[in-house]
Amino acid sequence: MPTTPFDAAARALHSDLVAWRRHLHRHPELAFREVATADFVRERLAELGIEASAPLAGGTGLTALVRGRGDGPTVALRADMDALPIPEDTRADYASTVPGVAHLCGHDAHTAMLLGAATLLRRLPPAYGHVKLLFQPAEEDGGGAEKMIADGALERPAVGAVFALHVDPRFPAGRTGVVVGPAHAAADGLDIEVVGAGGHAAYPHLSVDAVTVAAQVVTALQHVVSRHSDPLAPLVLTIGTIQGGFARNVIAPSVNLSGTVRSFDAELRQGLPGLVERVVQGVVAAHGATARVTYTMGYPATINDPALVPTFDAAAAAVVGADAHAHLAPTMGGEDFAYYAERVPAVIGRLGVRDEARGFVHPLHHPRFDLDEAALPLGAALLAEAARGWLDTQA
Ligand code: NI
Repeated sequence: MPTTPFDAAARALHSDLVAWRRHLHRHPELAFREVATADFVRERLAELGIEASAPLAGGTGLTALVRGRGDGPTVALRADMDALPIPEDTRADYASTVPGVAHLCGHDAHTAMLLGAATLLRRLPPAYGHVKLLFQPAEEDGGGAEKMIADGALERPAVGAVFALHVDPRFPAGRTGVVVGPAHAAADGLDIEVVGAGGHAAYPHLSVDAVTVAAQVVTALQHVVSRHSDPLAPLVLTIGTIQGGFARNVIAPSVNLSGTVRSFDAELRQGLPGLVERVVQGVVAAHGATARVTYTMGYPATINDPALVPTFDAAAAAVVGADAHAHLAPTMGGEDFAYYAERVPAVIGRLGVRDEARGFVHPLHHPRFDLDEAALPLGAALLAEAARGWLDTQA
């Protein structure tokens, strides 16, 4: 049974949360273009009498402070607001109205739930300390979190802890989870151009075939994972695209490869660019080709602070019940919440949104992803309760 003071108010907020989420779902915006979304958030905050900050993180991010009754430390709650460049394939009457763009990662729900948490905290302000709301752009592409921090989102007042939720279609509404420690992998980018010398397909000895060399590069890179790194340290190296050549009877002069590298261990991660470079250069040199390797460091691994997880656990237990809350295994998916967690103790938890009966079973980023809105009041209450709980531990 719920034991949070926010329970009744959160249930009463259900229709507002659904309306907000559906409005955002109909009007999705890509990373750093969340202009109407940010305006919508500002309007809802103004209705609550909460003043929003100046535009942050390139113009579409914002923060706002919900003040407690007495002065004290500040805890932050974060929502990401961007949609994905994927056409939606649901028949929902609230489906995206923007061709090729859709909220298929639930960031519409995250934004609505943070507005819900703001409403709850406004009605029942913390006795001691304040709650900062972080509405950030560009989680999917561009690292909006990093830009929010660069623009001072964790300062004035200084934030002592950050909580966030991500919807999770693996679990039904009413269930929550959290990973203790490393939760989301670091996600780095890899681009390789293999350069040979083109020619007639019938005379391979007069050229340097970039296709056969690129094929060996792809295969050899799998040894970075299987032979060169500790099997107990998770590592994924995926080549996602391979492009080159003109015609079946022409030897390709060059081939472009792109991929992603996922890892948790910081030391392992730092060594990978050099190792990848060595493997690629060794393979292409063996065949008289050359290569240009571009290794782009992306989001770091997200580490949920083990000392902060009990506060999240207690909030989840208060909202959904201890039996409906679980500790989860990490995932190799990236999450720019990592940037907050690098600077202050932080925890991002998972909120179940699966609904078998209505066919809401598709994974995040799937064209048919949709979510059970029964989870929205639970998420809003959980965020508010986590903030209240943390401030209590500081009192
Ligand atoms: Ni997401």
